[in-house]
Amino acid sequence: MNAHLRKFIFNDLQTIEGYIDPPDALVFLSLLQAQTNNALEGGIAEIGVFYGRSYFLFRKISDDSDKVLAIDLFDIGQTEDGVPTQYGRFVDNGRRLGLPVEEDLIIKGDSTRLRADEIVSKIGRTRFFSIDGGHMLHHIAADSTLATETLADHGVIAFDDTFNPAWPEVTVGVSDFLRERKDTFSTFCMTKYKTYVCRREFHEFYLDAIAKAPDLLAFEHVETEFLGSKVARLHNPMNRRMVYELMMRSGMGAFSERVYR
Ligand SMILES: C[S@@+](CC[C@H](N)C(=O)[O-])C[C@H]1O[C@@H](n2cnc3c(N)ncnc32)[C@H](O)[C@@H]1O
Repeated sequence: MNAHLRKFIFNDLQTIEGYIDPPDALVFLSLLQAQTNNALEGGIAEIGVFYGRSYFLFRKISDDSDKVLAIDLFDIGQTEDGVPTQYGRFVDNGRRLGLPVEEDLIIKGDSTRLRADEIVSKIGRTRFFSIDGGHMLHHIAADSTLATETLADHGVIAFDDTFNPAWPEVTVGVSDFLRERKDTFSTFCMTKYKTYVCRREFHEFYLDAIAKAPDLLAFEHVETEFLGSKVARLHNPMNRRMVYELMMRSGMGAFSERVYR
């Protein structure tokens, strides 16, 4: 197992307000390491950074040659002068974690107006693309098209908030994406919050990577099918989630990693 990276996921990352929880952080880690171990190179991109919880995970996992691109409106929060506070807090988080934000790899703006070449010119074709920006149908349609157009042959797209009743249009958007591209893309993994897809030629490779990842052994691997593809659904039982939450709330966060071994 990756002791120092697990420590980062279970301790440092939890100090950043945000939405990726340890199970998906461990999936990100496992997929990126499977790519690295097989010389599957490329940039890493994220739409929807918020205060950087997944961005700093990408930065921590990747090495100096990896380029991590962050795309966000950065318009959340306000000072008394009406200036948004989101970007400043994001930069401060990077400084505190010893992972300073690379400002030339930040795009401030609406992702639905971006072109693929603006991304590829900064980081090359992408090996991992996280979509967690706008959660309405037109956002998912635009962001998934953008991700597809930048993706390396072996690239993975991670869609956040799939099957979350709070954001029903995400589910519709991801289903549209998969049905429109059923000959080229397939789902290989699902968690409580995210759906992971890749090109069909790499489906077996990523299924195998998930099955063998040492950091995912704690989860129940349930084989399921989604729109014609075999999928590993990583089930995280309720009792473990409750123990984890109790530890976090009672100041025992430093030991929470053990719950996921
Ligand atoms: C749920 S948060 C992302 C959480 C983040 N991935 C994390 O790990 O904590 C959604 C983010 O998407 C951004 N966003 C919403 N609509 C967007 C758009 N059209 N273009 C770019 N970013 C957008 C918001 O500013 C917000 O920071």
